[in-house]
Amino acid sequence: MNWKIKALLQKLLSFSKIGDTLNHVPATLNKNYHYHVALYQTHECIRKFNYCTIDLAKGKTALEFGTGYSLISSIVLSLLGFKKIITVDITKDISFSTVKKQVHYLEDPEALKLIVSSSIYAKQEILEKIKVLKKATTLEAVLNLQHIEYIAPYTFKDLYSYSKEIDYIASQVVLEHVHPEVLDELFKFTKDALQEDLFCVHTINFIDHFTNPGFFQDPSISEFNFLKYADTDWNFWAGNTIAYTNRLSYLYYLELCKKYDLNVLDFIGENYKERIELDATQIHSDILAKYNPNIDIEDLTKYQRGTLIISK
Ligand SMILES: C[S@@+](CC[C@H](N)C(=O)[O-])C[C@H]1O[C@@H](n2cnc3c(N)ncnc32)[C@H](O)[C@@H]1O
Repeated sequence: MNWKIKALLQKLLSFSKIGDTLNHVPATLNKNYHYHVALYQTHECIRKFNYCTIDLAKGKTALEFGTGYSLISSIVLSLLGFKKIITVDITKDISFSTVKKQVHYLEDPEALKLIVSSSIYAKQEILEKIKVLKKATTLEAVLNLQHIEYIAPYTFKDLYSYSKEIDYIASQVVLEHVHPEVLDELFKFTKDALQEDLFCVHTINFIDHFTNPGFFQDPSISEFNFLKYADTDWNFWAGNTIAYTNRLSYLYYLELCKKYDLNVLDFIGENYKERIELDATQIHSDILAKYNPNIDIEDLTKYQRGTLIISK
């Protein structure tokens, strides 16, 4: 389906208070949705954590940036051994019914094996914690049991009130939805908050989200199609609360690290789906204006997804 149809539908939905929730409904209709989310979140949470050398025996605090609709990654951080997890978002999308539908999948052999392999707890202890979690009857009870503080909507003032206790910051496919001015604040906060030898891991999806799989996917366009448009044109199609992506490549995030003197331990770029190349000459000058004029333009479409690993 032409991507403009999805874009217009999302734009219409964005005028409604429950537009984002409605936009999320089609994905949840898949009968294996909660199983896939639980497995994916567990896998990605542990993959990011394993890039770091954090001694959880010393009582550590994690900050998850951009909670979304699932609490699984916060719960997994708790099951790994973090003593406290702060998870923040601009909208409150976690519901107890979703937690209930997902938490028991942590007993799935694949998920459990992953958790056990990186946790300070033994398998039996983890199973016991999941058993207690499954008996919880409210979201507050789940949050208390797992030492999770869920702040949505949050402000940077909230984050600074925790800054001296944060040992690990992580996000999963969130930064591409964040406006450049807020990214700047986040990287400044990271510099201010990160103690010596501590870590920050962001996985960022760089592609045009109108090429994401699903009923409305447009298979005819490049996964970097959005780079062809002027800022004002793109703002018309996708400058709303549901569809917004910042169209920034990994180079922009590396520049932010340089600006705030953050040590990039690694950047792992990936291409996870078939590429439909976008000719570099089609990239709009508004996009190029976001970068240093000396960049190699091919770099703007080099990776579909990447993981940025930072220490102070
Ligand atoms: C694609 S979802 C990812 C959610 C979750 N991390 C996951 O993997 O399912 C992007 C999330 O980023 C959140 N978000 C957007 N702008 C944000 C901001 N400035 N600060 C924190 N979260 C933000 C959105 O509300 C949304 O929940």
